[in-house]
Amino acid sequence: MRITVSVNGEEHSRDVEPRLLLVHFLRDTLGLTGTHWGCDTSNCGTCVVLMDGEPVKSCTVLAATAERYEITTVEGLERDGELDPVQRGFHEEHGLQCGFCTPGMLLTARALLNRNPDPTDAEIREAISGQICRCTGYAMIVRSIRWAAEHERST
Ligand code: FES
Ligand code: FES
Repeated sequence: MRITVSVNGEEHSRDVEPRLLLVHFLRDTLGLTGTHWGCDTSNCGTCVVLMDGEPVKSCTVLAATAERYEITTVEGLERDGELDPVQRGFHEEHGLQCGFCTPGMLLTARALLNRNPDPTDAEIREAISGQICRCTGYAMIVRSIRWAAEHERST
């Protein structure tokens, strides 16, 4: 089937199998490998992208379903050569080690700060609770997101 999906503000038309998952469409069809694929059980959350601004696990969505939504991947966070504050926060506060969980964490953080610009640590932890990090123990991730909240894009 022919589908057209808007990703990071650009429309992409491709012939795909109806069963193709969004995570594989992004990675293998479009070459946007910033979206990671970490499990076969919808548990790890490293595949999170934004659909109309809401974080979703892209391994649970058919690519064809994504036609109706604006998709944002980690590649779409940077604007005009300027990193998103959540990207800067993870850099400033060392919110990653291996980096495998990081794309999903960044997008979930972006969605959280869009709806709640000043979250508590408990709210940050709840927001990322669907995503697994094997390295950091989460404390640095929470600090990174708090840094982003305190330094939004204008700074
Ligand atoms: S790849 Fe693990 S939740 Fe999607
Ligand atoms: S930084 Fe390695 S899994 Fe999170």
